[in-house]
Amino acid sequence: MEKGIKRKNNQDNISIENDIINDNKLKKSKSNNNSSNNDNNNNNESLRILEFFCGIGGMHYAFEQSGMEGVVVASFDINVNTNLCYQHNFNIKPVNTIIDSLKVEKIESYKANCWLMSPPCQPYTRGGKNLDDEDHRAAGLLNLINILPKLNNPPKYIFLENVVNFEISRSREKLIKQLDEMGYEMNEHLVTPTQFGIPNDRARYYLSARLPLNKKIETGKYLDNCKFYREPNFLNKINESDLPSLSNYRENLSEEDELKYHVPDKYILKRYKFRFDIVKPNENKCSCFTKAYGSHHVIGTGSFLQTKKFEKKYNFDNPETLLDLGLRFFTPNEIALLHAFPIKYDLLNKSENSKAPDYTTISKHSFSFPEEMTQIQRYRALGNSLNVYVVAMLLKHVLFNYDNKDFQ
Ligand SMILES: C[S@@+](CC[C@H](N)C(=O)[O-])C[C@H]1O[C@@H](n2cnc3c(N)ncnc32)[C@H](O)[C@@H]1O
Repeated sequence: MEKGIKRKNNQDNISIENDIINDNKLKKSKSNNNSSNNDNNNNNESLRILEFFCGIGGMHYAFEQSGMEGVVVASFDINVNTNLCYQHNFNIKPVNTIIDSLKVEKIESYKANCWLMSPPCQPYTRGGKNLDDEDHRAAGLLNLINILPKLNNPPKYIFLENVVNFEISRSREKLIKQLDEMGYEMNEHLVTPTQFGIPNDRARYYLSARLPLNKKIETGKYLDNCKFYREPNFLNKINESDLPSLSNYRENLSEEDELKYHVPDKYILKRYKFRFDIVKPNENKCSCFTKAYGSHHVIGTGSFLQTKKFEKKYNFDNPETLLDLGLRFFTPNEIALLHAFPIKYDLLNKSENSKAPDYTTISKHSFSFPEEMTQIQRYRALGNSLNVYVVAMLLKHVLFNYDNKDFQ
């Protein structure tokens, strides 16, 4: 008989979740919002998770926020800075081994039943070289795909996050074909945090794959009929004008600290005519923060926050007009909060009235940067990371929810 999985105290989780996001964002359907769904009711198997390409642990936090019961038995990454941050928060040292060379026996030794991963995106990024499966940075994912059929007990659940464009890659096709042959049912999403009530754009690709509970699925047919879900079936549509303003996510900085994040004039002047994404605190959307944010690479790497002269009309053809707007970078803490990391309110000097959710209330571990991590390392780590809340909701309502019918 197939075993399922356990949820942590389901009711608690729902009420916390509803505190965090307005009720109207989650559909109140029985199948999607009732955590004690049929399939999971008589479950007695806890999740044992492997977190590949763990970075600062976005997947780990998402798992905690999903409310499922289980444990991350090992995480893997080769970046010493992010590994330090991971250990600082979870007290677990990620395995600093190149995933390309992991062997079947090593993976089996963990007796894991769930894999969470966000492989490097450079092989697939728009505007990049687009080498896809021929890029050396795809080798880790390809190795995991090769290992899968060799395992005596393949993981029951697999979740993958990547950039938009991955959905048309050969790497994705290889992964999907392998999973399809092994009888996984799958579901693919292309969504962004604004759909989940968070004022940050970060459109990403998500794959949820699992071994079906009781039914047998016809293998080898997935690619013929698959579709990408752009509107999760458990969410109500949110108007962007209803999103909380960015001021709710703003760190309360002293004047002196504000200056630390000032965008140097020369960055602005040397990008003559470039239309920077400038946002005011009362606006309710900012653009995707990439790993180059906070450096001199200011084109397309993320929004600038305007802190002065809100009424002033400026002109990108005359960049001098931008210089007295008090433009600053969003701080690493602000980005962490926009990415739904459980950062403590006191680190942000936030008032209790902020409409930015306090994710520490639903995460076992909170998030902070170790002191020795430099500003640039923090930005890079965040740019590589993911939106924890989006992943948590997809884990909870899609991957681990056998009542969700959007699987084939
Ligand atoms: C897109 S980031 C994932 C970040 C992570 N989800 C987070 O929340 O921070 C990819 C990560 O994979 C790591 N990485 C890249 N290639 C690797 C390899 N071959 N073996 C192990 N780790 C690798 C990088 O150091 C980076 O931290």
